[in-house]
Amino acid sequence: MTNSETKATLSFSDGSPALEMPIYKGSIGPDVIDIRKLYGSTGMFTYDPGFMSTAACNSSITYIDGDKGELLYRGYPIEQLAVNGGDFLETCYLLLNGELPTADQKKEFVATVTNHTMVHEQMQFFFRGFRRDAHPMSVLVGTVGALASFYHDSLDINDPHHREVSAIRLIAKMPTLVAMAYKYSIGQPFVYPRNDLSYSANFMHMMFSTPCEPYKTNEVLVRALDRILILHADHEQNASTSTVRLAGSSGANPFACIAAGIACLWGPAHGGANEAALSMLEEIGSVDNIPTFIAQVKDKNSGVKLMGFGHRVYKNYDPRAKLMRETCYEVLQELGLQDDPLFKLAMALEKIALEDEYFVSRKLYPNVDFYSGIVQRALGIPTALFTGIFALARTVGWIAQWKEMISDPEQKIGRPRQLFVGAAKRDVPAIDKR
Ligand code: ACO
Repeated sequence: MTNSETKATLSFSDGSPALEMPIYKGSIGPDVIDIRKLYGSTGMFTYDPGFMSTAACNSSITYIDGDKGELLYRGYPIEQLAVNGGDFLETCYLLLNGELPTADQKKEFVATVTNHTMVHEQMQFFFRGFRRDAHPMSVLVGTVGALASFYHDSLDINDPHHREVSAIRLIAKMPTLVAMAYKYSIGQPFVYPRNDLSYSANFMHMMFSTPCEPYKTNEVLVRALDRILILHADHEQNASTSTVRLAGSSGANPFACIAAGIACLWGPAHGGANEAALSMLEEIGSVDNIPTFIAQVKDKNSGVKLMGFGHRVYKNYDPRAKLMRETCYEVLQELGLQDDPLFKLAMALEKIALEDEYFVSRKLYPNVDFYSGIVQRALGIPTALFTGIFALARTVGWIAQWKEMISDPEQKIGRPRQLFVGAAKRDVPAIDKR
């Protein structure tokens, strides 16, 4: 971050003295005005619900150019990472360490993550405390938070080694917990991880094998899952990442912070959109029903949204959606499902929406979730677990951002202020006078 020659001046029409504020430049993207002295100098706050114009931190992990539809992890375009950037664990290494690993570094990183895939045997009792029909995100919020009770040896957030160990533990154990949540929901025994398999192949093994029958891994499907994980691995200061940072700003341990991130991700406006997008396609049912559905979406009183469309930052095609559509096609082809009616419906819906003035004028394009549900369904993942897969993938982004925040000398406890519009000070009346 460098100081710009230009300064911003805030002046007031009532003649109060103007305030000069520094402007900082990042390496790319919009500059920021440093308003930290505003309250001290003027007694006023800024008002920005939803953080439409507020940068809450400086970061060197992920960059999005929403107008161009560009996403970079540590400077590398997502298209290159997804197509020829190696597997998900390479992306994890990149996000955590800032550089892609050499062959030796990768070997060591994979071995370390692999060594941490099992969860404490007692964790199964947490699962057994849930109803079988509990939503997997509710199970994950609980069980990921519970990890803090098992790993007291890595909870000192001021110790870089502890931070590193917690990061590895979270990345390694998330697939085990997500698969356990699934197995529990269908009444099958938990399946232990297999450390001879890759990260994604092991996840599929824990999801789909049983003590009676091993799961035969299919390279195309494993690659598709790996791509889903890479595409969801980080997305700068989105709602769940900001939640993780805010939780962590108080000094809370990383397991608690990631549990907070999972809670935020659960919402349908964020990670829950992949589940909602698939349900929407199922409800529309056929191409003939698209015009009626689009009319409902355009009617502001209906409360209906085109799920998997629109994004706070992308005002162009989400680059992840393009890659996901490609993967969708590959997976359906591999499984002989190229005539999948939901895929056809999704493509028809996308085409119609992209030509419709409502969506064009608002710059609403498909986001990553528009196609990811169809891919996950084809892989055999139940709809209720889609957001859990997203949480699995995003854990590395959350933890990389959390680590970055902890080592940032400018880090302070997050404490937004407010414009108070409630009752001014008044006396409590006796109950018979109210
Ligand atoms: N369907 C219909 N209209 C939409 C949609 C949509 N999916 N998204 C935005 N709009 C409309 C809004 O109604 C608004 O219209 P108006 O100007 O006439 O009032 C305009 O487009 C701007 O939308 P905002 O809601 O102001 O945009 P915001 O940046 O706050 O919201 C969000 C972004 C939450 C993602 C929104 O587009 C949405 O709800 N999309 C559907 C849910 C979804 O797919 N979420 C996944 C996000 S990606 C992710 O988390 C991985």
